[in-house]
Amino acid sequence: MPIDEITQKVSDRYARAASTGEQMCCPTSYDMADLQSFIPEEVLKVSYGCGTPAGLKTVSLGETVLDIGSGGGIDCFEASRLVGPTGHVIGIDMTDTMLAIARKNAPVVAANLGYASSNVEFRKGMADAMPVIDGTIDLIISNCVINLAPDKRKVFREMFRVAKPGGRFTISDIVADQPVPQYLVHDAEKWGDCLSGALTLTDYMAGMVGAGFLGIHLIKTSPWQKIDGIHFLSVTLTGYKLPASAPRSDIRYATLRGPFSRVVDELGTAYLRGIPQPITPDTLNLLRQAPLASHFILSSSPLWLDRADDRWTAVYPADTPCTWQGHFALLAGPFVEAADDDHHVYRRGEPLEICSKTLHVLEADSYAPHFAIINRAGQHVSCEAVTCAPTGSCC
Ligand SMILES: C[S@@+](CC[C@H](N)C(=O)[O-])C[C@H]1O[C@@H](n2cnc3c(N)ncnc32)[C@H](O)[C@@H]1O
Repeated sequence: MPIDEITQKVSDRYARAASTGEQMCCPTSYDMADLQSFIPEEVLKVSYGCGTPAGLKTVSLGETVLDIGSGGGIDCFEASRLVGPTGHVIGIDMTDTMLAIARKNAPVVAANLGYASSNVEFRKGMADAMPVIDGTIDLIISNCVINLAPDKRKVFREMFRVAKPGGRFTISDIVADQPVPQYLVHDAEKWGDCLSGALTLTDYMAGMVGAGFLGIHLIKTSPWQKIDGIHFLSVTLTGYKLPASAPRSDIRYATLRGPFSRVVDELGTAYLRGIPQPITPDTLNLLRQAPLASHFILSSSPLWLDRADDRWTAVYPADTPCTWQGHFALLAGPFVEAADDDHHVYRRGEPLEICSKTLHVLEADSYAPHFAIINRAGQHVSCEAVTCAPTGSCC
């Protein structure tokens, strides 16, 4: 299907939804009672996101925020409240009907917030050619839009272009646990349903790294739909455009604390838990970002850790039989590869089948934020308990 045709179908679909107020799309967890206190119903009715990228404590006072595919403006208005009257919010959308609703309600929201004038503007434009000046945005948000863009790499490159050095993104979108087959890719109706254009988590994160972002990690995930055996998930991801030059520092080593026993970062450096790894200034710049920072001890001279040290973190599997219940774990950053203490090697975005014991390990507080877990089993699983060999070879 030609790109122009996809774009037109998607725009028609959202123009229709905006004029009828039809319910569409995905799981969000807005505090609607709170939003109703300052955002008109006309906007809330056409909220078609799959997350709450502005509501996740990601937005700070005085910042310039860009919302790609702002629709009726729900996240722009939430950001408007969070940046305060000194901040600025830009919403971009390609669909006139959406822009009209958003523009009409901007002064109403400003008045409800007690602002002298609105700090939100809505511009007509495409996600892959945004009418925004280079390097001017502190935070890019987007809610269930990039999957609708035919050329995602172009969108990621645009995001990198407009972000300030030191800027970041928090994006909610739909991804799939495996490549979406051609019969869905060429189904025009399912583009508008946020299905046909969904990338795998691997491709999504790799596309962002390819554009220049680093430290990409999961903020939130929830299962959405299963179609023909393909799991579609809602994910909210954050990543950084690191400043071009790292600040001067005498830090030369990073020691992995855990819970992973080994990780590889997005710049290709591998770390073994407890062993000091020499690092470059660029790597230091990356490791200082949340959520990588909590995994490492950074030092000017080599620092070894052992199990007796209370900075060492690990979650060991129980010494009991396990069952296979259909669970698969998808590593969702900030590492491209990571190993646990039971011989599993997780590669970013690739589903790895795990048993009940490993599920329990990955549900621990130190592991849970890094994984999306799906269950590919049908209704009923009757797996018998399996006892792993002491060398840990079964799971
Ligand atoms: C699923 S709706 C989400 C709207 C809004 N983010 C929300 O959470 O309610 C997708 C929106 O993105 C816009 N959109 C889709 N593809 C786009 C593109 N390539 N460039 C600009 N806007 C796009 C549509 O017009 C629509 O308003």
